[in-house]
Amino acid sequence: MTLRVPAGGVELAVDMRGEGLPVLFVHGFPFDRTMWRHQLATLSRARCIALDLRGVGGSGMPGADRYSLSRYADDLIAVLDALGVGEAVLCGLSMGGYVIFELLRRHPARVKAMILADTKPQADSADAKRGRDELTRVAEQQGQDAVIERLLPRLLAPVTQAEVAGQVREMARHWSVPGLVGALRVLRDRPDSTETLRGVRVPTLVLVGSDDEITPPDTARAMAQLIPGAECHVVPAAGHLSPLEQPAATNRLVDAFLQGLG
Ligand code: MLT
Repeated sequence: MTLRVPAGGVELAVDMRGEGLPVLFVHGFPFDRTMWRHQLATLSRARCIALDLRGVGGSGMPGADRYSLSRYADDLIAVLDALGVGEAVLCGLSMGGYVIFELLRRHPARVKAMILADTKPQADSADAKRGRDELTRVAEQQGQDAVIERLLPRLLAPVTQAEVAGQVREMARHWSVPGLVGALRVLRDRPDSTETLRGVRVPTLVLVGSDDEITPPDTARAMAQLIPGAECHVVPAAGHLSPLEQPAATNRLVDAFLQGLG
């Protein structure tokens, strides 16, 4: 079922499937809610909820000045409120993780547990910030296809390229240009979340693709060590998009984690 939820002056597209423990899935950049298609189809013990962030896919497309980390985090809360969910398991990939870190700072009582996939707590380096500005120019001057062609060479494991690259291109096409530009500013200016993660007191599962070049396994292991009691697993033969590249292995890990939550 797809719902439209009002949030901060736009409507957000939200897919829901299943019954049980609510799990809110937050996509990365520049993907959309369909990156969680295998999780929504398979995770039977959860009430799976996946949204398109503002500026993406079926959600509203405000101008480039209407994006911030706090706005993205509050959009997630608007979705939980609309569905009558108090506490949820929050599952984010990469940028989705950064949004969850902000939600932890703003609304900690709403987080029952976390699944952090292919993400990291560090802020952008000066070089990375210059890269964001360069990619912003590409988005403004050449559009979505040019943005994803720049990113694709580092996104997927060699073994999944052929099957998954087309799906990744398709998701990037669902972004508006203002959505890309707004998100790139948010990514560039996001704070370091190391101290936020040291303060986490909820069960946490960290997942990372064995071939993730953007947030490599060593980065994920170091992140997991910040979080008291967190477990960390490497998904074999996956790059930066383990839930889409290796859904069976990812789902086994997520399902076992959810089962442990009761
Ligand atoms: C993502 O997948 O969301 C991006 O890799 C995040 C980033 O560029 O930092």
